Amino acid sequence: MAQSEGEYEMSNKLKTVVFPVAGLGTRFLPATKAVPKEMLPVVDKPLVQYAVEEAVAAGATRLVFVTGRTKNAIADHFDKAYELESELAEKKKTELLEIAQSVVPEGVSCLYVRQSEPLGLGHAILCAKPLVQEEVFGVILPDDLIDNGDDPVMSQLVRHHESTGASVVSVTEVIPEHVNRYGVVDAPTFEGRSGRLRGIVEKPEPSEAPSNLAVVGRYLLSAEIFEILEQTAPDHRGEIQVTDAIATLLEKEAVDAYQFEGVQFDCGNKLGFLQATVWFGTKHPEIGPDFKHWLEQD
Ligand code: G1P
Repeated sequence: MAQSEGEYEMSNKLKTVVFPVAGLGTRFLPATKAVPKEMLPVVDKPLVQYAVEEAVAAGATRLVFVTGRTKNAIADHFDKAYELESELAEKKKTELLEIAQSVVPEGVSCLYVRQSEPLGLGHAILCAKPLVQEEVFGVILPDDLIDNGDDPVMSQLVRHHESTGASVVSVTEVIPEHVNRYGVVDAPTFEGRSGRLRGIVEKPEPSEAPSNLAVVGRYLLSAEIFEILEQTAPDHRGEIQVTDAIATLLEKEAVDAYQFEGVQFDCGNKLGFLQATVWFGTKHPEIGPDFKHWLEQD
């Protein structure tokens, strides 16, 4: 369907997921000097592939990567690897060939757009506007790695959206001293796992936070957010925050906080990354039992 300015395809189904991956990853220097932080592997899969698998499991068929300079390895990873594939085929290494070929399942397309200046998460999402055709789209921040087996967080958000029609942000409880690291929601009444948003603030001081429910990197947003982001002023750090745009969105449309099910790792820092490595290492079908045994030794 052709898209004209301000006109989006109406559907409750998720089609497009945006991955903001332009950040420099300075916390992982020197590892990230030449390798994008999203390409750092947790066991044997780069972080960004976990995010892609989550999007595809939730039904997405169009993956939009908002990249920057030095991020070409991400596009290479999701591209066809002719030389590797023909060599594996020739040597009859079928299992490995399957692994290489299933990085992007059939029917799923990857699109790339550059964020040329580091103007914040809201600006990164706005860069994806020309590539989003539907009324609702997903956003996954690959740094926030969340494991919930066969029912990943994006699928949980999609189900919630299908039953309510609301935009959804995923939230989790954090200790009060950590609220200043996150977007924090004001959602006074919760029913089960979800509550309607009355407000949302970016990185508040603990004394000013409306709750201890922090936004983690999964959003299902109405495309209305693009027009709002275009009008959203940069904050004191010069960044356009998606949190500020959501605060405006909720004055016009329903936005819900959803307390997801799953174990979350903040892979934007070394401790979280190591914890994720241990978590996924012990669950790994090939090396899990041996790794666990080794960890349990005195
Ligand atoms: C971003 C968002 C913040 C959110 C967080 C989740 O912050 O601005 O609202 O809680 O991601 O990881 P960043 O981690 O980029 O500073």
